[in-house]
Amino acid sequence: MSDTILTQRAEGILTLTLNRPEKKNAFTHDMYEAATQALQQADADGDVRVVLLKGAGGIFTAGNDIGDFLEHPPTGEDSAVFQFLRALVRFSKPVVAAVEGPAVGIGTTMLLHCDYVLAGEKTRFHMPFVNLGLCAEGASSLLLPRVAGLALASELLMLGEPFDAATALRAGLINKVLPEATLHETALERARAFAARPAEALRVTKRLVRGPIRAEVEEALKREGAEFVQRLQSDEAREAFMSFMSRARK
Ligand code: COA
Repeated sequence: MSDTILTQRAEGILTLTLNRPEKKNAFTHDMYEAATQALQQADADGDVRVVLLKGAGGIFTAGNDIGDFLEHPPTGEDSAVFQFLRALVRFSKPVVAAVEGPAVGIGTTMLLHCDYVLAGEKTRFHMPFVNLGLCAEGASSLLLPRVAGLALASELLMLGEPFDAATALRAGLINKVLPEATLHETALERARAFAARPAEALRVTKRLVRGPIRAEVEEALKREGAEFVQRLQSDEAREAFMSFMSRARK
């Protein structure tokens, strides 16, 4: 059990809440490990039929914690961030996500591996990898061009500017945009709808939908991961991270 990844089980739904609102739910190494473990346990647990992902405090997540990245940079495929991404990619049951506030970095790319995503109308998505001296991750270099088209995927990944929920919808990253006031209630209702479907038929269908590109997705994770680990050591990344950290200290 972790304070920063809350888990709650009811009605066949495992709710995973990113809970570090004072740091905009930015992911630390420990959070990746706790989320990976929760997903793996949920996959093996017959009583869990669906996972509902959300963030505490009106925020989804500001992505990787930059200070934590400097202190414990991922070094290879077994690093916590990559284990988390693989656990999400391999998860065999439906994942519903309720996204609001900032959804930065992996907070946007992880949505490509969820099965049903609702976003509040004020959500700000952002994949600032290039601006941080980094590169695409979360298999976004493979999946985003497929769902958004090459033009929009290149714009969002290469210019790295924030974008709104309407653009996320157009990019195929999310299913629906809702007022923040009804977001969580609707996400829970949708999670209940998945939980009410025959579990095995859902697993088979998810496997049929995701299976044919699964090997490619895992290859993309490896390819991006190797570049990402290298980029983290670059002067470009160090400068960008130090600049964020010194701004944060002011
Ligand atoms: N890593 C570490 N700390 C982070 C963080 C991150 N990714 N995102 C936010 N924080 C911290 C801030 O440093 C600040 O800490 P402090 O109160 O101790 O100074 C706190 O969270 C609140 O953030 P703040 O920037 O003041 O909130 P905001 O509402 O003005 O902006 C964001 C929110 C998400 C737009 C902004 O924090 C941001 O751009 N964060 C960086 C996102 C990022 O680059 N992620 C990495 C992707 S690979």
